[in-house]
Amino acid sequence: AAAAANDDIRRRIRTIPDFPKPGVQFRDITTLLLDPQGLQLSVERMLDQIAVPVDIVAGIEARGFVFAPAIALALGAGVLLIRKDGKLPGATIAEEYALEYGTDRIAIHADACTPGANVLLVDDLIATGGTARAAVRLLRKAGATVRQAAFVIELPDLGGAEMLRGENLAVTSLVQ
Ligand code: PRP
Ligand code: ADE
Repeated sequence: AAAAANDDIRRRIRTIPDFPKPGVQFRDITTLLLDPQGLQLSVERMLDQIAVPVDIVAGIEARGFVFAPAIALALGAGVLLIRKDGKLPGATIAEEYALEYGTDRIAIHADACTPGANVLLVDDLIATGGTARAAVRLLRKAGATVRQAAFVIELPDLGGAEMLRGENLAVTSLVQ
């Protein structure tokens, strides 16, 4: 049943070649989100894969913000926003990272986690894993316990999920 659901999810993800630059096969979740069944299935399947206690669900701007609150509401957890640097109003900690197509900086509020809070990291997609690794580092710096990162899509050729597993973390995804 899980495999059939994941096929339903895969079918609803659109691939756009050469976006945002030549050679990138962009995996576009807007088609998945527009479909009520696609949206519901992807959140349900991510929930099925959660194997750790969760106090807070941390979503990565921007596409991680779609899934994090849906998962948090179902778990009775709170939501932590991991934002592109410069957007959060309070005192922050930030990390720079390399992307498949450029570099960026993400930040969280320095006081976002009570020490030892169980934080589940959520994003739509893991490619090189640079974004997720920076996110895990930030959360751990803030005192969080991070034991799982959950994604809709994993791009195995880029090795990000494997790299992240080396950071003492369960990495789960619905579609590879
Ligand atoms: C995408 C995606 C992940 C990240 C994955 O976000 O949503 O956050 O790239 O790439 P990586 O594993 O190689 O780090 P993007 O930075 O394009 O921002 P967006 O969500 O605002 O579109
Ligand atoms: N983020 C990084 N690589 C991506 C890809 N190939 N498709 C969609 N989002 C991405």
